[in-house]
Amino acid sequence: MHQDCERILLTEETIQNRVQEIADTLNREYRGKNPLVVGILKGSIIFYGDLVRKLDMPVELDFMAVSSYGSGTVSSGTLRIKKDLDKNIEGRDVIIVEDIIDSGYTLARLKEYLLSRNPASVKIVVLLDKFERRVVDIEADYTCFRIEDEFVIGYGLDYDERYRNLPYIGILKRSVYE
Ligand code: IMP
Ligand code: MG
Repeated sequence: MHQDCERILLTEETIQNRVQEIADTLNREYRGKNPLVVGILKGSIIFYGDLVRKLDMPVELDFMAVSSYGSGTVSSGTLRIKKDLDKNIEGRDVIIVEDIIDSGYTLARLKEYLLSRNPASVKIVVLLDKFERRVVDIEADYTCFRIEDEFVIGYGLDYDERYRNLPYIGILKRSVYE
């Protein structure tokens, strides 16, 4: 285990098993369709890579980079698009893949933005849901794990751009950020 980790919350095996279950569900629900799978950079990339390899319908891949910010470090209602989609989504089935839903601002604003471009559908897949922290009324359509309010790293998730490459999800030691 990494020395900055307090403890491992989700092991590689636990994550892979759950990602397979979510993929099985998506394979049933999108059978015969050709969804555009939109990864939200950078936190979702590891999850995204594992998930799309378990999908068996024809998919197209695209990415967005966004941040929702306000005063200070707290997420807020303003969505800033740092990288937009390459593809036109009009009439398409869009699946958003995100690392974590926390306050909900990012995904709420993002969904609103994508819906304004007239897709056939927009669904949200998240790896983690910190449900206790929700401020905005939004839920993911597919959630891998609901977790307590602790700062987690690994499997794509960072603290100050570090730890994304850890193969498991761990709780970051408070001493690292306090
Ligand atoms: P929100 O739902 O708009 O509050 O923001 C969600 C974003 O905050 C995610 O995409 C992550 O980048 C970041 N985030 C929230 N909690 C954590 C965490 O525990 N570890 C790493 N990043 C987090
Ligand atoms: Mg992040």
